[in-house]
Amino acid sequence: MAGNRAVTFMGPRKVEVKSYDYPKLVGPKGQKCEHGVIVKLVATNICGSDLHIYRGRFPAPSGTILGHENTGEVVEVGSHVEFIKKGDLVSVPFNVSCGKCRNCKEGHTDTCMNANDEMDCAAYGFNLGGWQGGQAEYMMVPWADFQLLAFPDKDQAMEKIRDLTLLSDILPTGFHGCYTAGVRPGSTVYIAGAGPVGRCAAASAHLLGASAIIVGDSNQERLALVKKAGYQTVDTSKLDPVADQIEAILGVREVDAGVDAVGWECHGQGPDAPEEPTAVLNTLFQVVRANGGMGIPGIYARGDPEARNEAEKQGKYALAIGQAWIKSPHLTAGQCPVMHYHRELMMAILQDRMPYLTPLLNTQFISLDEVPEAYRKFDAGAPVKYVIDPHGSIKTAA
Ligand SMILES: NC(=O)c1ccc[n+]([C@@H]2O[C@H](COP(=O)([O-])OP(=O)(O)OC[C@H]3O[C@@H](n4cnc5c(N)ncnc54)[C@H](O)[C@@H]3O)[C@@H](O)[C@H]2O)c1
Ligand SMILES: [Zn+2]
Ligand SMILES: [Zn+2]
Repeated sequence: MAGNRAVTFMGPRKVEVKSYDYPKLVGPKGQKCEHGVIVKLVATNICGSDLHIYRGRFPAPSGTILGHENTGEVVEVGSHVEFIKKGDLVSVPFNVSCGKCRNCKEGHTDTCMNANDEMDCAAYGFNLGGWQGGQAEYMMVPWADFQLLAFPDKDQAMEKIRDLTLLSDILPTGFHGCYTAGVRPGSTVYIAGAGPVGRCAAASAHLLGASAIIVGDSNQERLALVKKAGYQTVDTSKLDPVADQIEAILGVREVDAGVDAVGWECHGQGPDAPEEPTAVLNTLFQVVRANGGMGIPGIYARGDPEARNEAEKQGKYALAIGQAWIKSPHLTAGQCPVMHYHRELMMAILQDRMPYLTPLLNTQFISLDEVPEAYRKFDAGAPVKYVIDPHGSIKTAA
């Protein structure tokens, strides 16, 4: 029987590829998962969410196997699985969800009540239910019939794997950010963050027909990718406030919709500005027009050992709600319920409706052995989306 090599978090800024047993159809509490399958990973991405763990800011035990953005081939099927078949090439939504609880039945797979004993929310490769991550050769996926999106044609999917690998998380997440912010044809949008999620949000605003797509960041290389794709940018390393920079583009200081693609590790305004966890939210409160919407996929956490004070350590931040309230703001936060969006976004990719994704994301495929170096570069702000090809399947297909 094959073993399993997997990317393991060993402590702040330390990841190692370690060897484990081949996975069984068994969950983190030792429960049988005959409703699950074993997936041989074809593409498994490194995410900004992994960076929160990598930096030691989102507490996770040493020994956690990372990876929640997973795509692969089904190689073993549990006896209760009815429709997913051995050989299917599948996208695995990063939320672990049972399909049977009240929240799943209402479509809120981001808040499944059965996949994590500690709270109503679970994900692979996180401190959220103990499910093994997929930055590995193999992983177990429970509730396979409910969770998995099988691609209709394997050869066609392998040709478009560079974009399809984004369906397990960041493309639906960027789309969710825009959609919940109310982006529609003609909307003007400000997206904070030009990381992979912000760039997917820009592509999603494009698909939704936004008239102006403005992306903010201080990272010049990432802003360059956004500009090259034809979108406008705000440079948060300049002292001019975001509203001034938006006014210079649109002639008005407000947009219809705002997306937070950064989270609590965000920095304030100006050159070398230090971290300021409320910078993005308070900016959105300012620049989103009255009655406008805000999508907040950026993560806000508690338990950060580097928090500036006890309140922030408990996840309590100084939001300018007294200034924002009168504008009747609408705000949607939390994990993206990937299943809401992944099938339609898959079709948009398969039908070549999102040609702008590939240059925006600037995806690089890497081997498992290159992962520690990729984490280091991604943490330093590389304008790249790193996708692990653990078996060399993509290399071989190419
Ligand atoms: N809700 C979800 O389901 C979900 C899913 C995926 C990722 N996320 C979260 O989305 C966020 C972004 O992910 P990513 O992979 O793009 O991360 P990333 O770390 O690569 O990118 C974040 C970017 O934000 C920039 N930034 C910092 N402060 C800023 C500010 N004040 N204004 C504008 N930009 C600023 C940084 O320079 C960086 O380029 C992370 O918090 C991640 O955990 C959430
Ligand atoms: Zn992710
Ligand atoms: Zn559920």
